[in-house]
Amino acid sequence: MKIAFAKLALPTNGTVIVALPQGAKLGRVAAMLDRRSKGALTRSMAAAEFKAKRDATLSIPAPAGGKLKRVLILGLGEVKSFDAATAEKTGAALYSLISGDEAATILLEGLPDAATSAARIASGAQLKSYRFDKYRTKEEKSAKPKIKSLTIQTDDMAAAKSKHVALNAIVDGVFFTRDLVTEPPNVIYPESFAAKAKELIADGVKIEVLGVKEMTKLGMGALLGVGQGSLRESKLLVMHWNGGRDKNSKPLAVVGKGVCFDSGGISLKPGAGMWDMKWDMAGAGAVTGLMRALARRKSTAHVIGLCGLVENMPDAGAQRPGDIVTSMSGQTIEVLNTDAEGRLVLCDVLTYAQQKYSPRAIVDLATLTGAIVAALSEHYAGIFSNNDELAGKLIAAGQATGERLWRFPMGEEYDKDIKSPIADMKNIGGGKAGSITAAQFLLRFIKDTPWAHLDIAGVVWNDKGTSLSAGGATGYGVRLLDKFVAENYE
Ligand code: BES
Ligand code: MN
Ligand code: ZN
Repeated sequence: MKIAFAKLALPTNGTVIVALPQGAKLGRVAAMLDRRSKGALTRSMAAAEFKAKRDATLSIPAPAGGKLKRVLILGLGEVKSFDAATAEKTGAALYSLISGDEAATILLEGLPDAATSAARIASGAQLKSYRFDKYRTKEEKSAKPKIKSLTIQTDDMAAAKSKHVALNAIVDGVFFTRDLVTEPPNVIYPESFAAKAKELIADGVKIEVLGVKEMTKLGMGALLGVGQGSLRESKLLVMHWNGGRDKNSKPLAVVGKGVCFDSGGISLKPGAGMWDMKWDMAGAGAVTGLMRALARRKSTAHVIGLCGLVENMPDAGAQRPGDIVTSMSGQTIEVLNTDAEGRLVLCDVLTYAQQKYSPRAIVDLATLTGAIVAALSEHYAGIFSNNDELAGKLIAAGQATGERLWRFPMGEEYDKDIKSPIADMKNIGGGKAGSITAAQFLLRFIKDTPWAHLDIAGVVWNDKGTSLSAGGATGYGVRLLDKFVAENYE
């Protein structure tokens, strides 16, 4: 779908959306439209007792005068609460209303910050428009959206256009993440994930990929143990973006769990629903999409994205329950359940990030536990942190973007649960508070760096769709982290 911004002018064809704040009169151009149609708008609004409540709609097909297909009056609700996030959701809701039309024009009048609203309505519509249909060879015509272009008319066209540049970069990042997360596991595996990430070189991102040889040298026994049952070689993907003037500034490190398929390994998962585990790399997917967003909007921050990419498979060569592995940190881990593999991957990447880059802070994103889905469902991701300030900043970014976070407690009491009788720790707790014991495991690999762990298992995939996604991969994390970076590192 093509997005265009234009000055307010009476449209002559296609579908026209009149965006109307609650309690407002028709704007100048909408009033012209009303006159041209011999009062069709005002008469319909009166007859339907249309109050312009948020997301209320009134459709007027083929009004007299001109060649319009229809006029759709869209309520915006109260102007004072019509903020950027609301505008974005309105844009997404609008997309669903116009997806069956070829072309649509929305008239934005009577808003105090028309430029921001226009840009956000556009990005919201774009986010909702995402589809992944490269593997469909025959498609029912009715299912396919027809919309080719959305024009947003506002008096503040130039400002809207320039505000949309950064938002468009973020949309690109979200789409990149959704593509990675949606691709099947025979297409996206560690090596092909890293190859796809190399598309970011064109955006100005520097990429390094470490293989088994390099990771063996580094002593990453925990990560490598997870991948040893797979025919696909494990990889560590490192992406660099430094848009600041100081080339030696300390970076923010963003770490992603990239289990390209999680069968559970020898602790094999049940068959029903196992297919979902293609998206067990959504943390890595979000980190990669974030790098695209930052690069494309030329962020002035210094951010390093690190993704531990593995495939967790059962095999004669796979690790066994009971194996003891030595992590890069030197700490030993008794692997009692090969399905608790995410933490094994992350711990070595966390150590590498600290030793190599001395980051200002580390944020990791991981589809780590089923327990977080039991606790929070699809509405919040869990956040675990050793630093209140960092946690607060992330929670605020979550609130602002609608990618919300709920903080969980951590502490000694929970840490006790992962004591092993034979090694430094075991990779599972006693069964209670599984998301917290997983976070405690990760904390054992953090030295003095402010760190936050986001358990995103419940929010990265949504069959029904969310306010800003149509169903499937949500791209969770890109908008959240982009906002967090924009507010605190630029
Ligand atoms: N990738 C899963 C967690 C998961 C579950 C993500 C459901 C999305 C939806 C993770 O690797 C896993 O298997 N965790 C186990 C840990 C347990 C064995 C301690 C779990 O949550 O059951
Ligand atoms: Mn698992
Ligand atoms: Zn997993």
